[in-house]
Amino acid sequence: MFRLIPRSNAIKSSLYYTHSYFKFHQYSTYPSSSTVKPKFNTEEIYDFRSDTMTKPTNEMSEIMRHASKGDDEDESTNDLEAYVAELTGHEAAVFAPSGTMTNQIAIRAHLSTPPHSVLCDFRSHIYNYEAGGIAYHSRALVLPTIPSNGLHLTCSEIESKIITTDDNHYAPTHVISLENTLKGLLFPLDEIQKISKLAKKERIKLHLDGARLWNACAETGSSLQSFAKHFDSISLCLSKSIGAPIGSVLVGNKEFIKIAKHLRKLFGGGWRQSGLLAAAGKFAILSNFPDNLKKSHLLTKKLSHELQNLGIRIMLPVHTNMIFIDTKPVNITINELATKLALHNILIASNDSTTTRLVLHYQIPPIAIEKFVNATSSIIRKKKYI
Ligand SMILES: Cc1ncc(COP(=O)(O)O)c(C=O)c1O
Repeated sequence: MFRLIPRSNAIKSSLYYTHSYFKFHQYSTYPSSSTVKPKFNTEEIYDFRSDTMTKPTNEMSEIMRHASKGDDEDESTNDLEAYVAELTGHEAAVFAPSGTMTNQIAIRAHLSTPPHSVLCDFRSHIYNYEAGGIAYHSRALVLPTIPSNGLHLTCSEIESKIITTDDNHYAPTHVISLENTLKGLLFPLDEIQKISKLAKKERIKLHLDGARLWNACAETGSSLQSFAKHFDSISLCLSKSIGAPIGSVLVGNKEFIKIAKHLRKLFGGGWRQSGLLAAAGKFAILSNFPDNLKKSHLLTKKLSHELQNLGIRIMLPVHTNMIFIDTKPVNITINELATKLALHNILIASNDSTTTRLVLHYQIPPIAIEKFVNATSSIIRKKKYI
């Protein structure tokens, strides 16, 4: 419900909103990073910049070769949509070129006439990294909300921030959008249940940016349905850790997906021969979910542990496939680290600060972790003796 923030809370949240906290959390997913190129041009490059960096395998290319080749809603595309709808327990699905498109279509489809508002975590992709899409496509006010536990929003925080008044000075909240995982962090299922109950009570639509819901389910052992049943719509990316070259699937009820398909056309996302890409997407799910993601999470935790032992600060808990590091305690910059790692064909998002994000995916093998740790250890040792 909309309330004025009590003064003590206002002071607390302004403290929480200190420049460094805000800057790290809001912009560190996409540090304006350059890439230090590896010295040797071999096939064996270990890319920790993002889980979008997976390469289509020969097996995947073979599957694509045999996919249907019709225009738009052909066999392989329909098959992928039906498969993801079934996996999530929703009535229908639509395949689109990107996660940005499926998120923005979902929000637009849930909203009709302004004024209205959308509540989300202040670090969320829909708010920070979709080029202001909510303002542009949906003409909505965004209520970016800071989770006081630093991990995920809680039902009571959402309840205190949503606007439900009919006082016409305000923009009533019509969509709550959650993200799981966000910065690799898990959103607890019991909190989602509470938020879903609140949303239903207040007749607010609940959307999930589930670009990496695959990782959340692989890590917790929960089914996709156990999360999905609490949401009116979910966007699931195929081009992130799951390992397909492109695409995202939006699920919801039949009426919602009909509107979403119309909006996809309006957004310029209508397909032609999409069967090849849809087949690659389904193959990626079948071959990587959940086992390859689980293995990758174990390697992520191993790397995080080793880096911490070397004196690097780990800035957020490591739940799935991301590590946020701060190299300040060991007196090296990310650029220095990146230059050293590039000699071992390891790529990281580099910049001239001391913080960055490392992202693992199923194509990063255990040997890459070993090389990463050895190279990092050697540069830290060298620095100590300079
Ligand atoms: C959480 C999250 N949602 C949505 C997207 C958007 O996906 P796309 O790059 O396919 O537009 C991303 C992209 O990295 C993401 O990390």
